[in-house]
Amino acid sequence: MKKGNATGGPVASRVSTRGASAGDKERALRPASDAASRIADELRNKLDKLEPGTRLPSVRELVERHGASPVTVQRALAQLAREGRVLTRPGDGTFVASAQSQSVPVDVSFQALALGAGNAGLDIGLSPFASAGHNLIPLGTGYMDLASQPLALLRAASLRAARREDVWSRVPAEGLDPLRAWFARDIGGDISARQVLIVPGGQAALSAVLRALVPAGASLLFESPSYFGALAIARAAGIRPVPVPSDREGVRPDALEAAIARCGARALYVQPTYANPTGAVMSSERRRALIEVARRTNIFLIEDDYARDLTIDGAVPPPLVRECPSHVVYIRSLTKTAAPGLRVAAIAALGPVFERLRAARAVDDWFVSGMLQEIALELVSSPGWPRHIAQLRSMLRARRDAAVETIRSELPTVTLANVPRGGFNLWLALPESLDDLEIARQAELAGVHINAGRVWFPAESLGPHLRLSYAAAEPRELREGVRRLARVIEKATR
Ligand SMILES: Cc1ncc(COP(=O)(O)O)c(C=O)c1O
Repeated sequence: MKKGNATGGPVASRVSTRGASAGDKERALRPASDAASRIADELRNKLDKLEPGTRLPSVRELVERHGASPVTVQRALAQLAREGRVLTRPGDGTFVASAQSQSVPVDVSFQALALGAGNAGLDIGLSPFASAGHNLIPLGTGYMDLASQPLALLRAASLRAARREDVWSRVPAEGLDPLRAWFARDIGGDISARQVLIVPGGQAALSAVLRALVPAGASLLFESPSYFGALAIARAAGIRPVPVPSDREGVRPDALEAAIARCGARALYVQPTYANPTGAVMSSERRRALIEVARRTNIFLIEDDYARDLTIDGAVPPPLVRECPSHVVYIRSLTKTAAPGLRVAAIAALGPVFERLRAARAVDDWFVSGMLQEIALELVSSPGWPRHIAQLRSMLRARRDAAVETIRSELPTVTLANVPRGGFNLWLALPESLDDLEIARQAELAGVHINAGRVWFPAESLGPHLRLSYAAAEPRELREGVRRLARVIEKATR
């Protein structure tokens, strides 16, 4: 096990910083041995007893007092300045900052009336997004952990991007041309850079596309089960999610036609490759059939290709948009492959729908930060990027295999219908008598963060399920997490 963390993973990824102060967060995310942090801790204790405006000892005095270098002392003071605890006036010294105003209780009771009816779907839709608490084994997050992120490449890309003078300027609403061109090349087929929009992450892309294509009150078709985040967007926008049954090969074309006839929907949200949560890959026959139905019935296919780089076995199938750019609105994000904070994704579409999306995106937030786009571009065009993807894949293989092997040996009453060829999702069917929410709650008490499956269903659940993600846990943690889950399930079944 690694030092400093009960679950053996990188410390920072295991620490919940939700609800913590800025100072707490900074402290939680750095190694305890850091000399500057130690000095900052000591000074912080002293600051509490000093009046605002009091001058702190000079850097030279602090250097002597703490036996540290001037650089280390400066770093400690900079840390306190970031927390708002001290103010540095160049040439004058460092002073205790004024205490933050005592919070006076504010009467917000009118808001209940002014806000009106809530949206219950939203609370439940976002529950899997809660990050794992301190020391929980993280089997419930859709983002890779620190150990799997290309931190050195990101650092180098950020430095290169920051050297550009125009990096903070206003950029076109559609995104930077070279980045649009990179996405277009990556998608392939007839898609050109002019048909690509850069957006701040896959979730923002989905939000823009769903709202632009489906009016409030209208129906949107979803495979069942489907990504909870897309369902949450639909519900928030007043769109009615309508489930379409799917089997091992993906959404059933006959059921799709029947659903279109019944509810008049004009679009289907679909993840043909490594679907979240089932991990399923739509067969090539099924892809062809789906496109045929879309052409015949004139509906849009919203293709969420969120895990394209995360292939574990075999080759990744070509995106639907390549086959049928007229009917497919395509979404591709970099966050799963790079890091959750690299909030850059692309929407590709052709024809009037592109114009509508372009206008909608510009109204949403004018444009995506040029700095972030430059970093993304530097990253994906660096020679280290393909190497990172290769490493990520072998990491995912080790994690998937450890999880699947332990599930098979420790969870005899649970059904894992599909071992995914890519992505990070395992969809576990629980015995009918069990309650998925209760199992997830008990698992948390046993130190495991895992998701109850019900939020992945557009309507009623088809039996109790759990979504287990192996994105952020190392093989040893996965084995331990599944063993703990086995004990929870066994107890609940007795
Ligand atoms: C299927 C799917 N689509 C889209 C997203 C959105 O990801 P992001 O906004 O980080 O690009 C996620 C994130 O979990 C996802 O699982």
